[in-house]
Amino acid sequence: MADVDIRNLSKDYGAARVLHGVDLSIADGEFVALVGPSGCGKSTTLRMVAGLESVSDGTIAIGGAVVNEVEPADRGIAMVFQSYALYPHMSVAGNMGYALKVAGRPRDEIRTRVAEAARILDLEALLDRRPADLSGGQRQRVAMGRAIVRRPKVFLFDEPLSNLDAKLRTQMRTEIKRIHRQVGATTVYVTHDQVEAMTLADRIVIMRDGRLEQVGTPEDVFDRPASAFVAAFIGSPPMNLAAGRLEAGGVRLDGGATVPLNLPARGLADAVGRRVLFGLRPNDIAPEGHGMDAAEPWEIEATVSAAEPLGGETLVFFPMGEGGDWIGRMLKPRALRLGETIVLRFDLARAHVFDAETGARLGGATHEDRTINQGGRP
Ligand SMILES: Nc1ncnc2c1ncn2[C@@H]1O[C@H](COP(=O)(O)OP(=O)(O)O)[C@@H](O)[C@H]1O
Ligand SMILES: [Mg+2]
Repeated sequence: MADVDIRNLSKDYGAARVLHGVDLSIADGEFVALVGPSGCGKSTTLRMVAGLESVSDGTIAIGGAVVNEVEPADRGIAMVFQSYALYPHMSVAGNMGYALKVAGRPRDEIRTRVAEAARILDLEALLDRRPADLSGGQRQRVAMGRAIVRRPKVFLFDEPLSNLDAKLRTQMRTEIKRIHRQVGATTVYVTHDQVEAMTLADRIVIMRDGRLEQVGTPEDVFDRPASAFVAAFIGSPPMNLAAGRLEAGGVRLDGGATVPLNLPARGLADAVGRRVLFGLRPNDIAPEGHGMDAAEPWEIEATVSAAEPLGGETLVFFPMGEGGDWIGRMLKPRALRLGETIVLRFDLARAHVFDAETGARLGGATHEDRTINQGGRP
């Protein structure tokens, strides 16, 4: 087992810098997810840890030793990709043991390690099959088996579930979590899917344009997003955001309403006059009587512009400010007419304010903070 310490890591492709001085410490046994939109540098970071890309600047240490110049095979890592080319002519056992065979390990040891991985992955009954006779999920498990048999100090995953259908993805997610608990190896997991990141990781790293936007526990990044970018990226549906200006009594939204906020209590007294984005999650907006326990309730009359019934709840769309519809949640769904007027309750204790220009979070939230270790180790 080993920790991974990334210091001031940069990557240039020709004249283009795609990673800008990234710092990240991953504790021994920790599960860290890198998330962010396509092209933000997730795979580049992972491939540099793996040794598949050179380091332009900075250092990567695994288990306390700098590995910048160490060959991939000698780094004690195993990587699982989205496309996991299995050898079609080899059995499951053959595929899983191949790396050990190439490394010249004794037959007995290979058999023991393959059997152990097969037990962890529930592949024992399939060891003699060929890849062609496996389902997509089983093939993905074999790909993981190939990594597990090597007993790496660090597991690296690059979007390993992207090729699977939604149901299988959910199933494999549970499986990966179970395997991590069982094996306990340090894991770095790249995904563009924030739900995957939220459910799997001890800590989430949100990347944007080759930089780290925020590092924190799932609760941190959900409850205290460091920027409007994180607020909009994490959560499904994402946080509602509307532009406005801070006044003594609250946020005056472009196009009308003033949302009453106690600026001094939020540490925003000095920001009066500032252009801001006012944000509230769909979870924190509900019609009265729909189970939301508001610490700082504020009610508005809203016109229903769309409704999306999800079975257990209905998403209610309504116009707010000038940026388009906001979304609230009706936890005890009833039929809604489009154009119907409903009273919606906002929990302003859970409101977020961001600088409109930089996107940075302004002030604190008045609700009790669950998040003390901002960006720190767990
Ligand atoms: N081999 C390469 N040559 C030039 N540019 C590359 C190469 N690989 C990646 N890039 C660029 O680096 C940036 C980050 O890419 P990548 O790490 O693959 O993003 P992600 O995995 O987050 O989608 C992108 O702008 C991409 O176009
Ligand atoms: Mg990628």
